[in-house]
Amino acid sequence: MDDHQNVGHADPLVRVALHKDNGGYMMPDMLDTLQRSIRDLRISVTDRCNFRCPYCMPAEIFGEKYEFLPKADILTFEEITRLASIFVGLGVAKIRITGGEPLLRRGLETLIADLSRLNGVCDLTLTTNGYLLADKARALKGAGLHRLTVSLDAIDDQTFDRMSGRTHGAERVLNGIRAAEQVGFYPIKINAVVQKGINDHLVVDLAQHFHNTGHILRFIEFMDVGNRNNWNMAQVVSAAEIIDRIHAVLPLEPMYPNYMGEVAKRYRYLDGGGEIGIIASVTQPFCGDCTRARLSTDGKLYTCLFASEGTDLRDDLRLGASNAALRDKIIHTWTHRSDRYSETRFDHTPEARKIEMYQIGG
Ligand code: GTP
Ligand code: 5AD
Ligand code: SF4
Ligand code: SF4
Repeated sequence: MDDHQNVGHADPLVRVALHKDNGGYMMPDMLDTLQRSIRDLRISVTDRCNFRCPYCMPAEIFGEKYEFLPKADILTFEEITRLASIFVGLGVAKIRITGGEPLLRRGLETLIADLSRLNGVCDLTLTTNGYLLADKARALKGAGLHRLTVSLDAIDDQTFDRMSGRTHGAERVLNGIRAAEQVGFYPIKINAVVQKGINDHLVVDLAQHFHNTGHILRFIEFMDVGNRNNWNMAQVVSAAEIIDRIHAVLPLEPMYPNYMGEVAKRYRYLDGGGEIGIIASVTQPFCGDCTRARLSTDGKLYTCLFASEGTDLRDDLRLGASNAALRDKIIHTWTHRSDRYSETRFDHTPEARKIEMYQIGG
């Protein structure tokens, strides 16, 4: 991230950093109460999804009649771009588009093109379930999307169907990955959530499938996101166990992170077959470096994936707030932030309602 640099400070415990604002001037970073800057903005563009992963949108709850957000409640592209530009002025350099399933949002390429033109966005990326990717990959590339992450929990059709709540098997997603590769997305990151007793027997299969392809497979420990997945520790396969299982077949060694605060721990195959990652939010939480803000489909700012409350920005926008007023509200929210849920997971009361994954996209 060329536009950011760390500088020294008299108190070694205080990390002081600078970022370039929209005008290109060096500015001191906005820090939260735990001295964390804001670097990433994850923008959810729809709360709808064409999958029904039981751990996120169980089909028995999200049926035909389920009422997703009405159009009027959803931020328009103009509103998203305006907010994103304010976030960039405050230090955000990386934007990730999420959902629900973001490729369901009509005209998404227009938003990507607008975001890609914002001065200061060094990394513009998107997370998709891949179902519509074969059709959309070229337009996404043309609009200026830099990178792509595809969620894929299993290749074996039976397990894929169980994890996605659909019955079409994994082939369509694999085709989407191939199409994205052909239009120039390379490497692609593949995210697989691992749930004990459901897909953990396929961890090595997945690793073998992407070994030597250049794509980066990342395993995610199953987390207690939202309120509906009946999470308990017995369903979590730890990062250490996942690595051990793969290492036994395809030997691995750890790698240095690409940047401070990288969510995934990196490993490479000793035979030169590429790299994999592990996102160990349960067994090795990474809140200390968490520089991520999340903007929900209906315009609320969340400062943690496990938050109960967000700060509404949409009503201010629609009531004519100036950029300065919106900026002040964001500054107030971030500078009061003290979230570290994954480090304090077992101290929380299970009754506290949390935001759902499909509303802020992971
Ligand atoms: P790169 O930019 O490619 O390094 O990706 P990323 O690290 O931003 O990863 P991505 O958005 O693909 O995140 C992968 C998954 O990790 C998400 O879908 C979440 O499940 C989990 N994750 C990402 N950020 C956080 C976080 O701040 N806290 C927790 N607990 N989990 C996170
Ligand atoms: N734990 C871990 N990862 C999850 N995801 C959704 N719900 C969970 C959970 N409870 C993943 C999706 C996708 C990404 C957006 O987050 O599978 O890869
Ligand atoms: Fe859709 Fe992703 Fe939720 Fe699965 S995890 S239902 S693909 S939003
Ligand atoms: Fe950040 Fe919250 Fe995840 Fe911790 S649990 S890394 S504070 S989003």
